[in-house]
Amino acid sequence: MASKQKMGYKCRIATVFLLLLASIAALVAVAVIQDAWKAEEYGMEYGIVIDSGSSRSNIFVYQWPGDKQNETGIVTELKNCRVDGSPISEIKVDPKKDAKTLDGFRKCMKEVKEMIPSEKHRTTPLFLGATAGMRLLHEKDEQKSNEVLESLREYLGSLPFMFQNASIISGQEEGLYGWITVNYLMGNLFHGNLWNKYLHPEGAETVGSMDLGGASTQIAFAIPEAQSGPDYMYVKLYGYDYFVYTHSYLCYGKNEAEKRVLDKIVQSSSNPSYIENPCYPQGFNVTLKASTIYDTECTTKPKNYNPDQDLFLVGTPDSEVCGDIVKSIFDFKTCSSSHCGFNGVEQPPVRGDFLAYAGYFYIARAVLNEGLTDFSDFNASINTFCHTEWTLLKKQKDWISERYLRTYCFAAHYVFTLLADGYKFDEETWKNINFTQQVKSTNIGWSLGYMLSMSNMLPSEVKVIPPMTNPLFAGLIFLFSALTIVTVVAVFIFLIRACY
Ligand SMILES: *[C@@H]1O[C@H](CO)[C@@H](O)[C@H](O)[C@H]1NC(C)=O
Ligand SMILES: *[C@@H]1O[C@H](CO)[C@@H](O)[C@H](O)[C@H]1NC(C)=O
Ligand SMILES: *[C@@H]1O[C@H](CO)[C@@H](O)[C@H](O)[C@H]1NC(C)=O
Ligand SMILES: *[C@@H]1O[C@H](CO)[C@@H](O)[C@H](O)[C@H]1NC(C)=O
Ligand SMILES: *[C@@H]1O[C@H](CO)[C@@H](O)[C@H](O)[C@H]1NC(C)=O
Repeated sequence: MASKQKMGYKCRIATVFLLLLASIAALVAVAVIQDAWKAEEYGMEYGIVIDSGSSRSNIFVYQWPGDKQNETGIVTELKNCRVDGSPISEIKVDPKKDAKTLDGFRKCMKEVKEMIPSEKHRTTPLFLGATAGMRLLHEKDEQKSNEVLESLREYLGSLPFMFQNASIISGQEEGLYGWITVNYLMGNLFHGNLWNKYLHPEGAETVGSMDLGGASTQIAFAIPEAQSGPDYMYVKLYGYDYFVYTHSYLCYGKNEAEKRVLDKIVQSSSNPSYIENPCYPQGFNVTLKASTIYDTECTTKPKNYNPDQDLFLVGTPDSEVCGDIVKSIFDFKTCSSSHCGFNGVEQPPVRGDFLAYAGYFYIARAVLNEGLTDFSDFNASINTFCHTEWTLLKKQKDWISERYLRTYCFAAHYVFTLLADGYKFDEETWKNINFTQQVKSTNIGWSLGYMLSMSNMLPSEVKVIPPMTNPLFAGLIFLFSALTIVTVVAVFIFLIRACY
């Protein structure tokens, strides 16, 4: 009788254990299935930004994991399509060229459409931001610039994407968005922990951002405390405060600065059909139309200006003279505050590491041999570069097209002067400059930061995302957890009873 009762207990205990194992197995299964489903359910999200600069437009396609539970998944660049034809600041001038530019847009957009799954088209935001080229056109001819933007809005609105707007972004926005892009990609702004809470990375310093475009150049870096002035901005990102200094110098992009230098050279010569250019290499010559130098708001048209006049320029290289002419387009004297950049613009002393991208990267790569980044090495390589004969230079740098190569003696002096005399980098702080084009395979520029800001992907407050969002998942977990607890309690009771 007693042994029979013991047997009964053992059976019941075994049954309860079985139930316990089963419910644990079910818990694990639910969790695993939830994880597997989620990957299918969310997939990727996409965003498109058209960067309409003074030289051309580029269409960037970004992608990120749509899973809201994984916001540590960073936005990456899926595609960068160069639009053939003219920059948008030059459309509505010549219908033939406009047709070519529109074709360029269509060609890129066709590729973009194929790249993004069609069910995602309607929810993919599309932005167009125009920078210094359009800022200059807006100054010169506001009506024309409005017409250009209106016709682009019409075209972009006809695409299957969620078109947001086409507008000119200010120089300060451009600087700030570049700074956001750099620091977002480098992971300096936040990281997500296990519970998907945004945290400020411990001890993370932000890096400064330096962009050299065709028509303007931007510098942006964080400073320790708030200051007042038009170039000081305050931003709150992921619950953390930043004070950012940023300035954009219009007409100090590489192409406009070169026009100002060519203007100085042309003005100092008496014979337009034989102008000696100390910034061109030995053995190089070119005929330029006067309009290539003067058809811009950045240079002053000479008396008796004739846009069609031919100017013949010959390379008579003299690095020192070239450097002096480059310096002459800056004003380093005027300054009404304690620290300045140039042209009387207030700027606190540079601090921390910097990424120098866009034009900086191309020029540094062309002039430096094997990534020399030292201050005096940079200075020395400029002289070597400027005094290399044209045919030899073409051979040495056969990966650079001649159109750019001929400008790089000027450009190297320009970059060195801008950084050393303009922003006041010295032998020590120069070491903190990293000339680069990409971070994590994504091109650095203002466009990513712009998209993140415009689509509210940069929370200003710390956001806590509950790890369980699916009610079914939560329900099942609750059910099986309850079952597990009940069986554990039952086992406990049976065991205690079995002891008496
Ligand atoms: C989040 O997404 C990124 C990018 O897709 C992926 O590499 C990472 O493993 C994901 N992390 C988690 C915890 O799912
Ligand atoms: C687009 O941008 C322009 C200029 O910034 C602005 O005036 C206009 O209201 C914007 N349109 C929309 C729909 O946001
Ligand atoms: C200009 O360059 C061409 C080669 O590109 C050369 O044949 C010609 O002699 C040069 N002219 C002058 C005046 O240097
Ligand atoms: C750069 O090098 C030149 C000589 O090649 C020298 O005259 C000049 O002072 C140097 N600049 C700086 C800032 O060191
Ligand atoms: C410069 O940046 C690139 C890209 O982020 C990185 O791989 C490299 O290590 C950096 N170099 C220095 C000296 O910081």
